[in-house]
Amino acid sequence: MTDSSVRNAQKLYEGKAKIIYATDDPEILVTYFKDDATAFNAQKKGQIANKGAINCKVTTHLYGLLTEKGVETHLIETTSDREMRVKRVDIVPLEVVVRNIAAGSLCKQTGIALGTRLEESLVEFYYKNDDLGDPLLTRDRIAAMKLTSPDMLDQLTEKAQTVNAVLTEFFARCGITLVDFKLEFGTDKDGTLLLADEISPDTCRLWNAAEPDEKKRVMDKDRFRQDLGDVAAGYQAVLDRILSQMS
Ligand code: TMP
Ligand code: ASP
Repeated sequence: MTDSSVRNAQKLYEGKAKIIYATDDPEILVTYFKDDATAFNAQKKGQIANKGAINCKVTTHLYGLLTEKGVETHLIETTSDREMRVKRVDIVPLEVVVRNIAAGSLCKQTGIALGTRLEESLVEFYYKNDDLGDPLLTRDRIAAMKLTSPDMLDQLTEKAQTVNAVLTEFFARCGITLVDFKLEFGTDKDGTLLLADEISPDTCRLWNAAEPDEKKRVMDKDRFRQDLGDVAAGYQAVLDRILSQMS
């Protein structure tokens, strides 16, 4: 049972990794981080011990760092091990993926070798639509679908690049290579664009910089996707390194 269900809060939405609850204030929601893990559009399902608590803490710390650097997020306050109070936002229906090093679908779709450092980081937009399998979009397709404006795409790109610069530098200090990651954004009641959702080992590829072995270096959800074992230990190691760097 979750902290929020004890309070009989109204569940608004249950996703693959989080539950969203209503609060007395319509502009404030509660996000509850679950241990459930899915991959390949939920074809693979499992649990990662303590993942919810780890991802809640990792997101809290990274959001704090980004806020200090001028990137606004939806986080108001982290209220328990697995819960945060967040501003209600209208989510932009795009997953914004930033890539520094080739991995995952980029390798599959282009043939670029795993681990190739990209001369320029890529910022890509995927359609948030499980029924369609979150397809990669182009600016022209986004316009044709009337998903959002070119100006919004420019803002998303600029914010994603700022997040990349801040997180790449921070993770490097943790001895971790930020390979790629996914962001989500939303607009609040005043129309301000805020970073939303989470930033965690579920949504980033993170490699132990000191480990040359292709499998051993993985500290993120690829341990689950690829059945590499020690999934929870990878997540915990990311949190431990973040905490020791922040203190
Ligand atoms: P990809 O290589 O599978 O396209 O993933 C790129 C990055 O986005 C990687 O860090 C994992 C993250 N990601 C998510 O957070 N959610 C998703 O549903 C997918 C497909 C990827
Ligand atoms: N989160 C996505 C899913 O379950 C995909 C992934 O992270 O690989 O379906």
